[in-house]
Amino acid sequence: QQGPAFDANAMTLTRWVLAQQRTAPEATGDLTQLLNSIQTAVKAIQSAVRKAGIAKLHGISGDTNVQGEEVKKLDVLSNDLFINMLKSSFTTCLLVSEENSSVLQVETERRGKYVVCFDPLDGSSNIDCLVSVGSIFAIYKKVSDGEPSEADALRPGNHLVAAGYALYGSATMMVLSIGKGKGVNGFMYDPSLGEFILTDPNMRIPDKGKIYSINEGYAAEWSDGLKNYIEEKKRPKTGKAYGARYVGSMVADVHRTIKYGGIFMYPATQSAPKGKLRLLYECNPMAFLVTEAGGLATNGSQPILDIKPTSIHERAPCYLGSKLDVEELLKFLH
Ligand code: AHM
Ligand code: MG
Repeated sequence: QQGPAFDANAMTLTRWVLAQQRTAPEATGDLTQLLNSIQTAVKAIQSAVRKAGIAKLHGISGDTNVQGEEVKKLDVLSNDLFINMLKSSFTTCLLVSEENSSVLQVETERRGKYVVCFDPLDGSSNIDCLVSVGSIFAIYKKVSDGEPSEADALRPGNHLVAAGYALYGSATMMVLSIGKGKGVNGFMYDPSLGEFILTDPNMRIPDKGKIYSINEGYAAEWSDGLKNYIEEKKRPKTGKAYGARYVGSMVADVHRTIKYGGIFMYPATQSAPKGKLRLLYECNPMAFLVTEAGGLATNGSQPILDIKPTSIHERAPCYLGSKLDVEELLKFLH
């Protein structure tokens, strides 16, 4: 027999979620169904991001679109995929997308109990130059009675029942947590099977890293505390300087931070006191995952997961990563 043995018992994402749900007495299978619909959206998005079928769209010569149609922009396509898959899963009642100014109510006939906040394709400035992008999602269970409304999404991250992201990097990976105390698991996409396979069980962020990650172009607008912290990382009084890495795609920067340790920052600045990143579908899900992996996530004055949102697209400063690195930063900020 040639080549490596074929794993006839691979732990796929679906199988893993099913097994987890089996151990929860109150589980109905709805979360499994919901996560399956997200998986389908992610598979389709990764295929589009990787330009599968581009020859059909653009014609073999590369300069004409054979149908004469405009090719859908990737971020629009990703949003349509998320919305259509989530609605048709029969498990959601309310959706919040970065791409839609107001909440989307699911039609009565297709309603379920979950509220999903998502950024279907984050890192838009990286799409056209083929640098990594990602999708981010956060899932709440609706607790109020009556029609689903914005209030059902305006809840602190601590109430999340699941959060995750998909990274379209040199490979595609989904990283997921299905609840407080349940840890973080990573699933790599195997294109030959069309399945996500558990490759990174129980992901833990190192207590301390050697990398800082921030857009240093805006340094003039930082607080003195932040300036001093970064200066300390570059010219430390003792020990070696930190390396700098900044992709400019939150999913890529956070994934690296979880894998290698260190700190990722999108700070408050003079002109943007709440930073840039959105609380509901960027900061919260990432804070949930980092916290579950043993790290910390703060807006500079409180844990991100404690913030009570007041509007669906509100922003928050975001500092997250290795426990000791975030604690050190907080000393500088105060
Ligand atoms: P987007 O939702 O428009 O893509 O913006 C979010 C992205 C994040 O992925 C990333 O962390 C940040 O914007 C980078 O912003 P900047 O270019 O200001 O450093
Ligand atoms: Mg975004």
